[in-house]
Amino acid sequence: MNLAVRYYSRGGNTRKIAEAIAEAVGVEAKTVSEPLSGDVDVLFLGSAPYAFDVDEEVKKFIRGIDVSVGKVVNFSTSAAVKSTRKYVEKLLAEKKIPLAKEEFSCRGAFAMLHRGRPNESDQRAAADFARKILS
Ligand SMILES: Cc1cc2nc3c(=O)[nH]c(=O)nc-3n(C[C@H](O)[C@H](O)[C@H](O)COP(=O)(O)O)c2cc1C
Repeated sequence: MNLAVRYYSRGGNTRKIAEAIAEAVGVEAKTVSEPLSGDVDVLFLGSAPYAFDVDEEVKKFIRGIDVSVGKVVNFSTSAAVKSTRKYVEKLLAEKKIPLAKEEFSCRGAFAMLHRGRPNESDQRAAADFARKILS
């Protein structure tokens, strides 16, 4: 099975989750600045909301996908919204790329909120989630 992990992280919160997922599934976590180099069965795609949307880099990455992707598994860190799912699902639908109903999301520190998150427990939960997706 071909797997890939891509993420966008301004402050490092989403990167921590990306790295936990990547280690759990045995691939390298790369930023969305690195296009997919070949077909993948499962793409773990990580992002965070900034002012009620994902960064333009994430949109650019999705729009630029030119290989076959079996499904995307969304993961995100956020301070208030549940996840970034609603921000990426339309873009994926435009590309006819299936979005898995399962996703991983947790709190990410922002200003005085959610200090220390994601923490080790969040990272463990992300790793468990990723292993379960592949089982
Ligand atoms: C400029 C800015 C805008 C943000 N807007 C939102 C938002 O609209 N909704 C939300 O839930 N969190 C918001 N956050 C919180 C981030 O999504 C959260 O801290 C996330 O973990 C950041 O991930 P990163 O460290 O990977 O960039 C915002 C953070 C920043 C810095």
